[in-house]
Amino acid sequence: MKVVRQFLHFLKDYKLSMVMFMTVTTLSVLAESMRPWSLKMILDSVGVNDMNRVYWYLGLLGVSTIGGNIINSLGYFYGDVVKIPLSKQIREVVFKKVLDLDFAYHVDKNTGSLISAFRRGDGAVNSIFDAVFQEIYWTIIYIGVALWFLFQASPSIGMALVGLFAINMSMIFWLIKKNLKTRVVFNKTEDEISGIIADTMINYDTVKFFAAEKREEKRLANKFSEWTRAVWDYANTFRMMDVGVGTVSASGMLLMLWIAVSKLNNGLTIGDIVMISGFVTSLHFQFFHLFSQIRNIAKHTADLEAYFGILDNEVCVKEATRPRKIKKMAGKIEFQKVGFVYPKNNQKVLDDINLVIKSGTKVAFVGRSGTGKTTLVKLLLRFYDPSKGRILIDGVDIKKMTKSNLRSIISVVPQEPVLFNNSIKFNLAYGKEEATMEEILTVAEQANIIDFIDKLPKGWDTMVGERGIKLSGGQKQRLAIARALLTNPKVLIFDEATSNLDSESERMIQTALEEVSKSRTVIIVAHRFSTVRDADNIVVLAGGTIVESGKHQELLAKKGVYEKLWSIQTKGKSKKK
Ligand SMILES: Nc1ncnc2c1ncn2[C@@H]1O[C@H](COP(=O)(O)OP(=O)(O)O)[C@@H](O)[C@H]1O
Ligand SMILES: [Mg+2]
Repeated sequence: MKVVRQFLHFLKDYKLSMVMFMTVTTLSVLAESMRPWSLKMILDSVGVNDMNRVYWYLGLLGVSTIGGNIINSLGYFYGDVVKIPLSKQIREVVFKKVLDLDFAYHVDKNTGSLISAFRRGDGAVNSIFDAVFQEIYWTIIYIGVALWFLFQASPSIGMALVGLFAINMSMIFWLIKKNLKTRVVFNKTEDEISGIIADTMINYDTVKFFAAEKREEKRLANKFSEWTRAVWDYANTFRMMDVGVGTVSASGMLLMLWIAVSKLNNGLTIGDIVMISGFVTSLHFQFFHLFSQIRNIAKHTADLEAYFGILDNEVCVKEATRPRKIKKMAGKIEFQKVGFVYPKNNQKVLDDINLVIKSGTKVAFVGRSGTGKTTLVKLLLRFYDPSKGRILIDGVDIKKMTKSNLRSIISVVPQEPVLFNNSIKFNLAYGKEEATMEEILTVAEQANIIDFIDKLPKGWDTMVGERGIKLSGGQKQRLAIARALLTNPKVLIFDEATSNLDSESERMIQTALEEVSKSRTVIIVAHRFSTVRDADNIVVLAGGTIVESGKHQELLAKKGVYEKLWSIQTKGKSKKK
C-alpha cells in the first residue's frame, strides 16, 4: 500500500532510535512471558520439595516482574523519542506542501476540511505508530513465545492456539473491512459538518445582514441527520467485533483449559496447568488487544491517506528547471497571443490577447465585470499558466523565471485585500520583514494612512482582527497600497484598488499614485473611468479579448465600446448631481 511506503519513508530518518525501541520492546515481552513459566517452575520444585530451586525461581519471578515493568516504560520512552520529532517533521512537510501548492488548489480547497485533515492525520501518525510498533509487535511476539511454551507442554494445546489465532484473525480482518467502509462515509459527513461550521463562521457578517441564523442552524441540522446515520453504521461494526472476537476467544480459552485439565497427571504437572492457564487467560486479553489495535490502524488508515494524500497534489505551475534571473529589471511586459481557460472549467476566459506595456508607462485595463481583467493579472503573476501563448517581462518568458523572482518585482493591490490577524505594522511590513521604520513611514505617507494610524490608541501595534475585519474598507485598501509600495516593485498593479475608497481618499491616492508611478510600470484595473483618464494607454476588454486601445481622447473619438461605457458613467454622475 502506498500509505505504508510513505510512512516508512518518513521513518527512515529514525533508524537508530527504532532499533533501540524494538530491542527494548522485545526484552519487555520476554520478561512478561517469564512470569507463567517461573510460576510453573516454582510449583514443580515445591512438588519435588527442592526449596533451593523454589527460591531461585521466586527470585527470577521478582526480577522479571519488576524489571519487566521498568523495561516496558523504557519501551514507551523510546517510542516517544521517535514519535515526537516524527509528528513535527510530517506536519512541517505537509504544511510546506500546502504553501507550495498552486493558487488553483487554494481556490478549490475547503479550509475547514483541510484543518481537520491535518488534525486527524497527526492523530493517525501517533496511533498507527503505537499500534504497529508498540502494541501489535509486542502482542505477536508474546503470542509466539506463548505458543512455544504451550507446544512444549502439550502439542494439542499448541494446535488449539494456532486454530484460535487463525479464526480470530480472519474474523478481525473481515469485520475491519466493514468498519473501514463505514468510517469513510462517516468521515465525509464529518468533514461536511466542519465545512458548514467554518463557512458560516467566515461569512458571519452575511449571515447577520440577512438575519439567516435560523437558516444556518437548519442547514447544519439537515447535515446532522446524515451524520447520525453514518455514525450508527460505524459504531455498530465495533459492537459486532466485540461480540464476535470475545465469543471465539473465550471458547478457545475454555477448550485449551479443558485439554490441559484432562491431561493432569497424564503428562502434565500442576505446574504445567498453572503455566498454561497463565498464558491462556492472558492470551484472551491479548486477542482483544490485538483486535483493538488492528481496529485502530483500520480506523486511522483513511485519515493517514487523506493526510499524506495532500502530498500527492501536483503543482501545475511548474518552476523553471534552469531559471533566468533578470538583474536589472526595466519592467516591459508583453502578452503574446495569450488565451486562457480555468482548470476544471471549459469556459474560455481570455482569447488572443496581444499587448505590449512599455516600461515606466501607466496602462489601464477597463471593461465590464467578468471580462477577464483580474485573470490577466493572475496570469502575469503565474498564479496560472496561460493555456495558449506566452507572457514576457523584459523579453524573458515568465515561465523561465522563478516564481519568487517574478513575484518580487510585481506588487499587487487587490480589490479586497485580506490582512493577517496581527498588528498594522506586521501587515504593512509583510513583503519586506527587514524594512526600517523610516521606509515604513515613507510608504505609509504615500498611501495616506499615517494620520489614521497616529490616531489609534495603540498606533502601529493595533491588531487588525481576523482578515482585517477591524479596519474599514478604505483603511484596509490604503494599508494594502502601502504594503505593495514597501517592496519597491518594478511593476505595480492596482486591481480595482480604489473602488472601495471615498472620493476624498481616492483623490489623495491618485496624487500618491502619480508620485509612485514615476519610476515604474503601472497597471490600473478600474471600472471608474475617472481614475484612468490620464493613462498612457487604455486597454478595453470585452468578451475576454482586447477590443480597443489608445489614449482617452482617441478612444472617445472612436465612438466604440469605450465611448459607450464612458457616456454611461458620466451620465450617471450628472444625474446624481
Ligand atoms: N477560479 C476560477 N475558476 C473558474 N472561473 C473563474 C475563476 N475566477 C474567475 N473565473 C471566471 O472568469 C471570468 C473572468 O473573471 P475575472 O478575471 O475575475 O473578471 P474581471 O476581473 O474582469 O471582473 C469570469 O467569468 C469568472 O466567473
Ligand atoms: Mg476583477
